[in-house]
Amino acid sequence: MPHDVREPGNARKIYVRSFGCQMNVYDAQRMTDTMAKEGYVETDKPDDADLIILNTCHIREKAAEKVYSELGRLRVAQEEAGRKPMVAVAGCVAQAEGAEIIKRARMVDLVVGPQSYHKLPELVALAQEKHGQHKKGIVETEFPVEDKFDFLAPPTKQAIAKRGPTAFVTVQEGCDKFCTFCVVPYTRGAEVSRPLGRLLDEVKRLADGGVREVTLIGQNVNAYHGLDDHGRSANLAELMARVAEVPGIARIRYTTSHPRDMDDELIAAHRDMPQLMPYLHLPVQSGSDRILDAMNRKHGREAYFELVAKVRAARPDIAFSSDFIVGFPGETDADFADTLDLVDKVGFAGAFSFKYSPRPGTPAATLGAQVPEAAMNERIYALQALLDKQKAAFDAACRGRRFDILLEKPGRLPGQLIGRSPYLQSVVVLAPREAIGTLASVVIRDVSTKSLSGDIVAGEFWPEGVPAGANLVRQDEQLEA
Ligand code: 5AD
Ligand code: SF4
Repeated sequence: MPHDVREPGNARKIYVRSFGCQMNVYDAQRMTDTMAKEGYVETDKPDDADLIILNTCHIREKAAEKVYSELGRLRVAQEEAGRKPMVAVAGCVAQAEGAEIIKRARMVDLVVGPQSYHKLPELVALAQEKHGQHKKGIVETEFPVEDKFDFLAPPTKQAIAKRGPTAFVTVQEGCDKFCTFCVVPYTRGAEVSRPLGRLLDEVKRLADGGVREVTLIGQNVNAYHGLDDHGRSANLAELMARVAEVPGIARIRYTTSHPRDMDDELIAAHRDMPQLMPYLHLPVQSGSDRILDAMNRKHGREAYFELVAKVRAARPDIAFSSDFIVGFPGETDADFADTLDLVDKVGFAGAFSFKYSPRPGTPAATLGAQVPEAAMNERIYALQALLDKQKAAFDAACRGRRFDILLEKPGRLPGQLIGRSPYLQSVVVLAPREAIGTLASVVIRDVSTKSLSGDIVAGEFWPEGVPAGANLVRQDEQLEA
């Protein structure tokens, strides 16, 4: 008799491991939700799983290679345990490398690109038939005409509750910018925006399940131009205005933005929309006009300064974070000095910086004048030292300030909860578990490199006021995340 996973007690287990960006976190949840409908229960232990999905990232070589080391580890674990779960490789490495993956790792049953996740149930069933028969795995990397979002299952109320009070919602996918270093336009495809009504339904469902903060995500999120119910194109500012009306949603964020798509309406939203958090991730990549041009970024350093000034004028307490690449082909010491100078002039509250990694198929990969490793190392070290200093100064200046903190999860020590400040800093407070999912007004007391800690002075969970002694920390307890 065939094994019917929908029979109670027969449930198969799915384990999804995501690498890379938030889009992958969102996709992992949608894949889990879709397979839940087929009777698969989520597990956080690969040893337990009947289906393992590695949701991969192709943005830099190091990220892409991780899938192969992970597959190697899984193979050893499987041989030791004497079990052979199904293994699928999803994400951008799947899209970029396709059948190559199966050539390099024969244990892989299924390779599925990001645009085909809605076909997962049928692909898994097909792969299941071949599984264990020494037949080659299945590869699905088409860009189908139908929209996967129309077919992916939404999360159940329990799944939403389990994931906590913050959620990502993919509003836009793909990119048409074609920066010369970047694989995204090839792995995720052309820019596509989801219709506004569908997104509002999704946000309402999340809010119903207890979500208080949504981060609208997309590779080029501020290029959002989804259709509204009247067939008109709506921009990100309009979408956020509608999201802000959803009961229960207290906070909105969006990421990742391209400087060219920061229109006036979006900037005005930072002034007018109290739910929109004053923290903007705005990748600049380089401070050198010459390099920005070679990167095909479509903006120069002056334009970036002007934009930062405009956003700051609209929302004076806003903080910026950014992405940087050092060692783009042809980058000289003078170009790099321009990057340090830009960082100095803007002042960032956080940032990600990377050494340039040539990606197959991108225009920059075949440029001459690749920067030697030693110079790259020197530059990344100097850049990160400056960015770390700026972050530390920003965090230190938060001491004594009062912020609303969204309490998200238990901390390391009993009685502790961890929440996020408007600036995405982790903040540790003492509060009961039942306060998770509520906003607390917190005065920041201590600042360390990892997190801040503070005392609650008021909050949704304490409508009558915070009980005396609620913030007392025992002498032997260090507040830390
Ligand atoms: N090499 C190094 N960093 C890269 N990024 C994108 N492509 C590359 C590459 N080829 C960085 C950019 C981007 C972030 C997500 O990853 O800074 O904003
Ligand atoms: Fe890549 Fe540039 Fe598009 Fe960002 S804007 S996803 S860096 S091509």
